[in-house]
Amino acid sequence: MKLGHIAAACLSLALSAGAFAQTTTLKIGYATSKESHYGVGSTVFCDEIEKGTQGRYKCQHFANSALGGEREQIEAIQLGTQDLLNTSTGPVGNFVPEVKIVDIPFLFRDYDHARKVMDGPIGQDILTKFPSKGIIALAWTENGFRHMTNSKRDIVKPTDAAGLKMRTMENKVHMDGYRTFGILPTPMAFPELFGALQQGTVDGQENPIPVILSAKFSQVQKHLSLTGHVYSPALLLLSPKVWNKLSDADKKVFVDAAQKASVAQRKKVNDDENNGIAQLEKDGMKVTKTVDGAAFREALKPAYVGYAKEFGADNIKKISDVK
Ligand code: PAF
Repeated sequence: MKLGHIAAACLSLALSAGAFAQTTTLKIGYATSKESHYGVGSTVFCDEIEKGTQGRYKCQHFANSALGGEREQIEAIQLGTQDLLNTSTGPVGNFVPEVKIVDIPFLFRDYDHARKVMDGPIGQDILTKFPSKGIIALAWTENGFRHMTNSKRDIVKPTDAAGLKMRTMENKVHMDGYRTFGILPTPMAFPELFGALQQGTVDGQENPIPVILSAKFSQVQKHLSLTGHVYSPALLLLSPKVWNKLSDADKKVFVDAAQKASVAQRKKVNDDENNGIAQLEKDGMKVTKTVDGAAFREALKPAYVGYAKEFGADNIKKISDVK
């Protein structure tokens, strides 16, 4: 047989093998819409794994909390009944305690600082703590800096927030901090939040601009204050049930895809921060742009005593010192 014929035979064999290669469809869940930051990051991830595995893996998207709240979805990842989740760290510290430190209010100066920490040795070391808890953390994605909304009044300083019943994530680090502002924290899963705001069960909530936009909170909240009181990191999580079946080459495809997803998700967060506030004003929200950050930091001091005890003052300083 001539060389050309051998090559052609090999090619047709490879093509027919490809044609019969099974496609595994992975369920990916997230809290907001497919057009939101979570949807954008998740779509990039899914496109990349489909391309990188020649179609052997693809995704089915479950946007808008279709698979439940983030805590429920983390449990499903551990059980292997859900494959992928793009989630804030909100409930994650309840599963992987090493994550809690990055939820400290006013820990990060700005996006540049936060992203450097997450992508640097501190953030990467936290990712290594997941597998022993039955979760694979592929990469840090992003939710964004959180801002307060409420139905009662403008918030410039903590005394304005005092007495407001605010929905928080199921996150003790946040709740301990917010209490020092005088807020009455009410932990609640995100899927219940719109109804709770509509019915007045809570006065307010706090979330990044991309979430406030995507969840259409302008329909049920009048006041938005750009408090930026805490950075909300996010993670692309995978079930070990899937990970353990991947070849080394496919594992690399998944990790590279997650890093590309992170870039796209952060870009969407930036775009929403830049353009979304004007949109929310158009939608009728009253936006307080100048907030007394120093007063919020001062109020938070007692909570920092607790954080230093729990996480170590040195470890907190290591994060603050990242330039
Ligand atoms: O507020 C929350 O619970 C989270 O920020 C959300 C909206 C689920 C996104 O991760």
